[in-house]
Amino acid sequence: MEWADPTLAFYGLGAAALATSAVTLRKRLELSKAKHRSLAGHSRMARRLAGFVPFYDYSEERFFRSDDAPDEIAARRRAGFERLSVLYKTRFAETIRQTAEASSSISDLRFTDAYRVPFQYSRMVRAHLPSAAFLRSSSGVTVTDLDGNRAYDLTGSYGVNVLGYDFYKEAIERGAARVRELGPVLGPYHPLIIENTKLLKEVSGLDEVSFHMSGTEAVMQAVRLARYHTRRSHLVRFCGAYHGWWGDVQPGIGNPVPAHETYTLDDMSEEALRVLRTRRNIACVLVNPLQALHPNISAPSDSSLLDSGRAAHFDKAAYAQWLKRLREVCTERNIVLIFDEVFVGFRLAKGGAQDYFGVRADLVTYGKTLGGGLPIGVVCGKSDLMKRFRDDRPADICFARGTFNAHPYVMAAMNEFLRFLQTPQADALYRGLDTIWNDRARKLNQRLAAEALPVEVANISSIWTVCYTQPSRYNWMLQYYLRAEGLALSWIGTGRLIFSLNYTDADFDAVADRFVAAAKAMAHDGWWWNNPATTNKTIKRTILKEMVRQRLFGPRER
Ligand SMILES: Cc1ncc(COP(=O)(O)O)c(C=O)c1O
Repeated sequence: MEWADPTLAFYGLGAAALATSAVTLRKRLELSKAKHRSLAGHSRMARRLAGFVPFYDYSEERFFRSDDAPDEIAARRRAGFERLSVLYKTRFAETIRQTAEASSSISDLRFTDAYRVPFQYSRMVRAHLPSAAFLRSSSGVTVTDLDGNRAYDLTGSYGVNVLGYDFYKEAIERGAARVRELGPVLGPYHPLIIENTKLLKEVSGLDEVSFHMSGTEAVMQAVRLARYHTRRSHLVRFCGAYHGWWGDVQPGIGNPVPAHETYTLDDMSEEALRVLRTRRNIACVLVNPLQALHPNISAPSDSSLLDSGRAAHFDKAAYAQWLKRLREVCTERNIVLIFDEVFVGFRLAKGGAQDYFGVRADLVTYGKTLGGGLPIGVVCGKSDLMKRFRDDRPADICFARGTFNAHPYVMAAMNEFLRFLQTPQADALYRGLDTIWNDRARKLNQRLAAEALPVEVANISSIWTVCYTQPSRYNWMLQYYLRAEGLALSWIGTGRLIFSLNYTDADFDAVADRFVAAAKAMAHDGWWWNNPATTNKTIKRTILKEMVRQRLFGPRER
C-alpha cells in the first residue's frame, strides 16, 4: 500500500505506534498486577534489596532482650540458654566436635550452620548451641548420633523418606544384588529399566519417561522440552515455589544472575490466569503442589523467622479447583502444564498429586523417594512433548544428557520402590493417609492449646510446618528445645517437619509428648514473654530501623 500524503502517513504511523505501545503498556500492567505483592513476588527487586541488607548482630545483653523484655525475663532466658548450652555440649559432645572439624571444609555445612537462625542472633547461637550435623545410624523412625543419642526423625531426609529408612536400606541392598553382575556400566541399560518405565507410565498416566540424576535436572529438562516444542521463551512459576536450584526457576535471592525469561506470578489468582491467557511467549507453567500449604510463600525456614508472621493452611478443594482452572487455560493456550512432584509424588497418594487433586498435567517430574534411597530425577510426559528431535528438521534437536542417567544401581533401587507400590501393603499404607495425619495434627494442636502454648501446626498430609500464634522474636529457639527433647529437625528448623509413613500411633504419641514438653520448657524460660503492644508489624519495623541505622552509621553496640 502507498500513502498518497506524507503527512497522513506520518499520522498513521504515529497512531499505529501509539496503539502498539498502549497494548504493551496494558500487558505490562497486567503482568504487574499478576505478581504477588510481597518481595518474593518481585524477584528482581528482592535481589537488589538483598544487596542492601547490612550485617549486624546483637551483643550478649541485647540477644536476650531484643524485644525490650524486662530484666527478670532476660535473666530467665539467659538461664535457660545456658542450661541448654551445657546439655548440648555434654550430650552431643562428639557429634559437635566432628561437625566443627568438618565445618570449615564442607561449604554446605558452613552455609547451613550460618543460616539456622536470623543472622542477628547467629553468632551467639553458634557459640553456645553448636551444630551437631552427624549421624551414625537409623532404625525405624529414629536416628542415632555419634554420641549414641536416639532421636525421632522429623527431617524426612528432605522428603525422600516416605517409607521408612529400613525400607530404603533393603531396597538399595536387594537392588545392588540384582545388578551386581553388570556393575556400574553406563550407556547401555540393565533390562530392569523396562519394568521401571512401564510402572512409571502407569503411575503417571503418561506415555514416555526420561531418567536424570536429580530433581533439579528433571525440572530443567521438562522446561527445556516445553520451550523446544512450543517455540516460546518464558516459563511461569508461582511465587514462593521451589523447583530446585537451577537459575531459571530461582529468579530471586540466592541466584547471582537475573532470570530474564521467568515470570513469577501470584498463586491462585485471577490476574495470573489473565496473563496466561494474553501473553504469547509462555511455554510452560510449573506447579509445585506443596505450595497448597502456603501459596505465595517460600519454603519456610527458621532463619527467616523474624516474627510470628508465618502462616500456613491447606484447603484441598480450593487448590484442586485452582489446578483445574489452570489446566483449562493451559489447554486453551497450548501452554505446557508441568507438575513438579519431586517432593509430593508418592507421598500424598500412590498416583501422586495428579491423582490426589484430580488434575492431569502434560509433563510430570518426580525424584527423591522414587530412587529407592539413591539420587534420581524423572520426567514423564506425553510422547509428542518428550520427543527430542523433529522429523522434518534433523538438525533442530533438544539436547539432554547426563553421564549417570539410568545408573543400574539407581534403577534397581527404584525398581524395588516401584514394585513395593504394587503390593497390598502399599495399598494399606496409603489408605486413609490424610485422615491419619490430619487427626495427629489436630490432636497435637489441641494439646498445645490446652497448655496455652503459642504454637500450632499446619499440614498437608505428612508434611507439617509450625506456626506461632502470638508475636515473638524468639520462635526460632523452639528448634533447640525440640532437639533437646530428642526430636531431630533438618537445618531449616521448625519450618518443615516431614514424617515417614511408617510412624505408628505410639511413635507419634511419643513425638507429641516431646513436642509439648519442648514448648513448655521454652515458655517456662521466658522466650515467649510478650509485650501486649507488640505486633508482627512493630517487630518488622524495629528490625527495619536497626538495618537503616546500621547502613547509615555502621557498627555500634546494640
Ligand atoms: C518440588 C521440587 N522440585 C525440585 C527439587 C530439586 O530436587 P533435587 O534436590 O533432587 O535437585 C526439589 C527439592 O527439594 C523440590 O522439592
